[in-house]
Amino acid sequence: MTSSAGQVSEIAERFVHFAEEARGSSALYAMLSRDISDDHELLQLLLVAPPSQRRPNLLFAAAHDLLLEEPEHDVARYYASVSETAISPDEQAFKLFRDFCLSNRSRLRATIATRHTQTNEVRRSAAFVPIFQRICAEEPIALVEVGASAGLNLLVDRFRFRYDDGPWIGASDSPVAIQCNVQGRAPPTRMHGVEVACRIGIDTRPLDVSNAHDARWLMACVWPEQRDRLELLRSVLDVARSDPPQLVKGDAIEVLEEVALGIPPHLTICLFNSATLCYFTDAECAAFVSVADRIARERELHWLSLEGGTRQTFGARLPFDALYKPRSTDRPTDIFGILGYARWRGTQREDRVAARADMHGRWIEWMEDL
Ligand SMILES: C[S@@+](CC[C@H](N)C(=O)[O-])C[C@H]1O[C@@H](n2cnc3c(N)ncnc32)[C@H](O)[C@@H]1O
Repeated sequence: MTSSAGQVSEIAERFVHFAEEARGSSALYAMLSRDISDDHELLQLLLVAPPSQRRPNLLFAAAHDLLLEEPEHDVARYYASVSETAISPDEQAFKLFRDFCLSNRSRLRATIATRHTQTNEVRRSAAFVPIFQRICAEEPIALVEVGASAGLNLLVDRFRFRYDDGPWIGASDSPVAIQCNVQGRAPPTRMHGVEVACRIGIDTRPLDVSNAHDARWLMACVWPEQRDRLELLRSVLDVARSDPPQLVKGDAIEVLEEVALGIPPHLTICLFNSATLCYFTDAECAAFVSVADRIARERELHWLSLEGGTRQTFGARLPFDALYKPRSTDRPTDIFGILGYARWRGTQREDRVAARADMHGRWIEWMEDL
């Protein structure tokens, strides 16, 4: 068992890496991370979380959550999410952040002990749309999302999308407008929207958009400078509150089969997941694939999986390593995802790499014909 000092030094390492990762996306978090990595008292705050959750994002989200609730503290002036006139981080920023965290120590600990980072990024659904459109061309589809968080990507038929400067497609009057840039080959989109007959999300800790604290937590998981993501999230929450998606609480490996087989038999099921398999062990990934194989024996099933390239969605059969290469024009910290698409012919699964995509849905590069 690792000693408390050993655990703190592991957390410190994570902040050192995070400072690098956040550079270019959040000057504030990058700067704070460097100083936090040397601050025993702040690092210790994360010890109340389970080991897998002791990550910089959790401390930052817990502090952000508190500031969204009570924006009076001086550190708020560095948070573009909270202050209209936010300033760039300077030499005062860490001192104020530290003071804010330590004076709210017990409230932060309570959040860190009970919450997980569950960023729900709807721009990721831009990667799924071309395949959903194709499958629903004849009949509306049933969407089943594993690792749904608040289930916002299940509402894909209530958003509109544009790829590069092409036409807007989908729900033409939707307040949720998702712009996705194209790198290389464009995705094969169609003009019609996605027709959804039913939608169910599965999550071990589903977030409820109608609950003010859950909704604020979703905002808190977004980095403060990313105003465009926060605005988009606000508009999605408005849409979601009027008719929230159905969410099932449970471990996907245990409940997915029952959920899928409970869907009316005439509907084609589109199972999808994004930024979720990083939480699975290799054995859990393999078990997930077996559950999907079993469902496909009973039902017509399509499976779309948008995950970071280090997590091999369908087992080792896709050439992820070859695809998971930053290009010369990319920043080293850019995060790539691979969109895998599996279909079954009889009991045989056919796995394909449909696209490479930014894990925050900012761009997509289509890889092959469907
Ligand atoms: C980073 S969030 C991604 C949410 C959403 N898929 C998206 O792309 O916006 C990952 C979600 O997976 C959920 N999760 C992790 N392990 C799970 C499991 N075994 N079964 C169901 N959900 C799980 C977490 O609770 C979390 O809400």
